[in-house]
Amino acid sequence: MDLALGLGAASGLVKEKRGERDSGNWGQITGFKCQGESSDFIDQAHNPGMYPDQESKRCPTNGATPARADVGCCQCAMTGPGQFGSVDRALACSLEGFQVRFQSVKGRDYVAGGACPSKATLQGKTVIVTGANTGIGRETALELARRGGNIILACRDMEKCEAAAKAIRGETLNHRVNARHLDLASLKSVREFAKKIIEEEEKVHVLINNAAVMRCPHWTTEDGFEMQLGVNHLGHFLLTNLLLDKLKASAPSRIINLSSLAHVAGHIDFEDLNWEKRKYNTKAAYCQSKLAIVLFTRELSRRLQGTGVTVNALHPGVARTELGRHTGMHSSAFSSFTLGPIFWLLVKSPQLAAQTSTYLAVAEDLEGVSGKYFDGLREKAPAPEAEDDEVARRLWAESARLVGLKGS
Ligand SMILES: NC(=O)c1ccc[n+]([C@@H]2O[C@H](COP(=O)([O-])OP(=O)(O)OC[C@H]3O[C@@H](n4cnc5c(N)ncnc54)[C@H](OP(=O)(O)O)[C@@H]3O)[C@@H](O)[C@H]2O)c1
Repeated sequence: MDLALGLGAASGLVKEKRGERDSGNWGQITGFKCQGESSDFIDQAHNPGMYPDQESKRCPTNGATPARADVGCCQCAMTGPGQFGSVDRALACSLEGFQVRFQSVKGRDYVAGGACPSKATLQGKTVIVTGANTGIGRETALELARRGGNIILACRDMEKCEAAAKAIRGETLNHRVNARHLDLASLKSVREFAKKIIEEEEKVHVLINNAAVMRCPHWTTEDGFEMQLGVNHLGHFLLTNLLLDKLKASAPSRIINLSSLAHVAGHIDFEDLNWEKRKYNTKAAYCQSKLAIVLFTRELSRRLQGTGVTVNALHPGVARTELGRHTGMHSSAFSSFTLGPIFWLLVKSPQLAAQTSTYLAVAEDLEGVSGKYFDGLREKAPAPEAEDDEVARRLWAESARLVGLKGS
């Protein structure tokens, strides 16, 4: 459930949780107004100003100065005074301890978002989905298998992977659904997986970089990278680069990178990408990794111009999956039984969250669309740092160096 995960997220929505931060400033943010749906979500007590410090326009939480008028604060992702624009954003703010009033829970339909409008099929097309044994990845693989594709589930746990592939074959009667081993926390495994794909698959039309780990303890990958950066960004960075020739030879083809709204709270710290010098902050590390994915998408799109290969990033919405396994949500009976129903009301099912990946993979109207960020089924501007070409180029060079990609 991503940025909104944590007990604070849920309780904030039911009992007007006041700002837990000592600064207290953000306690002024009292409204939650969903544009266009005012009967569902009502702006209660309009906050007197987005920034308590009106002079400097600085966010009191992290001192950042938002670069654009429409991105209020990189920490809480407000879009305007008292307006969150979406339930995700309200949940994110709530997690931070901000006071968010949720007036009426008629909003489940709103939260769920839309289904992919395209009926396009995938006969003869090969699709790779990483992290497809559970959650959004599994539902994406299922949806694309229904559309007739040759689906490769790329997972680190082969038992879970085989079980998911078998279940999807059974459910769709599409026998071209297969399990392959891929551990994104190991560059060796990524190279072995890519080598097999290049040798065994004639074409790859869609690569969905879906797998992720969120807010784990301070772990490192086999190659010594901070785990969230290593799995979410560097593993997919290497995988994508190794498959680029195959994707180009299969054009028109598409690369889809699962980022998150959490990227708006991210910052790329080139001095300490791997958290070796600073005190580890598991949330900031996740946000950095998700920002890296949007920047990677931008730079890759620039490099792929004219090749027939497109690449886009997305936020799938807040969904009930296993993503919160390191946050305590899965281990406490209290959270399961008390907060479970609240989350049931407020967050998407993995099936609905998979609609964005499905849409980007198949929609005819996205032919040629590249380098964009989608929130649900809509293209949106990402955070300002995610649109910085210099940061994108520098991150590419650093990522290539770290994963040992020569001549990139
Ligand atoms: N759920 C949300 O609310 C939400 C919101 C915004 C963005 N997202 C993004 O959506 C994507 C899917 O997330 P989800 O919610 O479906 O999470 P999930 O249920 O936790 O699934 C994550 C998948 O990634 C796999 N994975 C983790 N580490 C891996 C590794 N080292 N190598 C290969 N695979 C690995 C997991 O495999 P195991 O089962 O073996 O661990 C699992 O299959 C992620 O990129 C996430 O950041 C989710």
